[in-house]
Amino acid sequence: MAYNLLKGKKGIIFGALDENSIAWKTAQHCKAEGAEIVLTNAPIALRMGAINKLAEEIGAPVIPADVTSDEDIENLFIKSKEHFGGGVDFVLHSIGMSINVRKGIHYTENNYDFTHKGLDISAISLHRVLKIALKHDAINEWGSVVALTYIAAQRIFPDYNDMADGKAMLESIARNFGYHYGVKKNVRINTISQSPTRTTAGSGIKGFNGFIDYAEKMSPLGNATADACADYIVSLFSDLTKMVTMQNLFHDGGFSSTGVTQAVIEQMEKE
Ligand SMILES: NC(=O)c1ccc[n+]([C@@H]2O[C@H](COP(=O)([O-])OP(=O)(O)OC[C@H]3O[C@@H](n4cnc5c(N)ncnc54)[C@H](O)[C@@H]3O)[C@@H](O)[C@H]2O)c1
Repeated sequence: MAYNLLKGKKGIIFGALDENSIAWKTAQHCKAEGAEIVLTNAPIALRMGAINKLAEEIGAPVIPADVTSDEDIENLFIKSKEHFGGGVDFVLHSIGMSINVRKGIHYTENNYDFTHKGLDISAISLHRVLKIALKHDAINEWGSVVALTYIAAQRIFPDYNDMADGKAMLESIARNFGYHYGVKKNVRINTISQSPTRTTAGSGIKGFNGFIDYAEKMSPLGNATADACADYIVSLFSDLTKMVTMQNLFHDGGFSSTGVTQAVIEQMEKE
């Protein structure tokens, strides 16, 4: 059900790779709520992914941008401003990648070239996007920026590897830039800490099946789906949440506040 919550709003969505992507669902939900969208992803992902299908479905242009390139991000904001005839009201940062995870390198043996690359893509990219947006005055007053994160930023999940460090940094950048963008332009910046979700990035984590089942059992409401996450993001892009900024918001069915559940106790007693 749609409520026209984003009527007249314009936004940029990073990270829609395929129909499982959280960004893909978010683009669909934003469109259903009345928004106009520009889609972007890394050039290589555009070649591999199905983004043109989504672009056609929601009537959005696709502007390629590797989030580690200043030049690409400059071009993205310049072209988006041209397309919309002005700035945007929301930005979704839905990007994560660790080469150490991809190559199965244990956290205690991380390759630092890979670590740097992973941090650049997963965390510093948020700073880069915000810095360049500010320079071009590309986000309108009372605009809203959301980045996606995971609870491994606060608690140890052994196989999340150096992505955990990336998420801790991402959340810190959201808080720090949230202050400066708030003071300068009343732009709000938050992170959403989402349940494990079956997507390309999510499934890359070792032992993901065990991980997602455990989280399901440890969450009073069960795991939050990508569709539910998209709904939450819509609410943060809407005018109903104007005074929420610099927060890390858990969207996890209660997982983050749960010590143990009856379901987990029963599972342990079986063994
Ligand atoms: N899936 C989960 O379990 C889960 C849980 C919590 C948070 N998250 C976070 O949600 C976000 C979205 O991930 P997803 O699960 O939808 O997976 P996904 O694989 O669909 O999305 C990740 C996106 O990052 C993009 N990307 C990678 N390198 C890039 C670069 N250099 N430039 C631009 N884009 C680049 C990919 O092309 C892809 O579209 C990520 O930040 C992820 O860490 C995911």
